[in-house]
Amino acid sequence: MLRRGVPASTNPGAATSLETPRLLLRRWRDDDLDGFAAITAQPEVMRFIHDGRTLDRAATAERLAAYERHWDERGFGLYAAEVKETGELAGFTGLAVPAFLPEIMPAVEIGWRLGRAYWGQGLATEAARAVVAHARASPGLRRLVSIHVAGNEASARVMVKLGMALERETVQPDTGRPVRVYAMNL
Ligand SMILES: CC(C)(COP(=O)(O)OP(=O)(O)OC[C@H]1O[C@@H](n2cnc3c(N)ncnc32)[C@H](O)[C@@H]1OP(=O)(O)O)[C@@H](O)C(=O)NCCC(=O)NCCS
Repeated sequence: MLRRGVPASTNPGAATSLETPRLLLRRWRDDDLDGFAAITAQPEVMRFIHDGRTLDRAATAERLAAYERHWDERGFGLYAAEVKETGELAGFTGLAVPAFLPEIMPAVEIGWRLGRAYWGQGLATEAARAVVAHARASPGLRRLVSIHVAGNEASARVMVKLGMALERETVQPDTGRPVRVYAMNL
């Protein structure tokens, strides 16, 4: 079960896969690297992520390894989002500990990232709603945050559609970029 605050490593319990009408949310596989590297190479996708730079294949592989480590250590994490009809990797959604913003810790963040071809179809909201519903069913988790770089209006809109409210405007220490923190009680 997920516990309040930062769940401990001895705290497994999140479902390792979830289904929505159009998506299968699942843990990452080695053969996701090609698809995810194609997504993290798109400048418009990465514009509001961290320092805004695209990732090469090696850096993308490191990210995927870190996502899986998060699953192993925390018992929850970011799901690969696979389009059920085609089997293609659309991107990700899921939960992560936002250690990059120490001032809001402890916290659990819901996040999303889709390849450009998958924007504008309601997929991020559909996937995130399944993650929120699952988080609600986890007795220990009472609150979710979500963080976007100022100007990322599509992401802000997903937060609002999920029922989150703006809680704080601040600056991300490692990039110096202004960010907005949304939150919701479960
Ligand atoms: C953010 C992201 C996941 C949204 O995915 P999506 O599947 O297109 O999102 P949805 O269709 O579920 O919802 C997007 C909403 O934002 C709105 N929107 C899109 N672009 C917008 C803009 N520039 N200004 C205002 N609203 C915008 C859409 O109209 C939609 O709202 P609506 O349903 O009320 O019409 C996608 O754009 C993405 O992957 N971006 C790059 C990675 C990223 O920035 N991730 C988030 C980091 S915090």
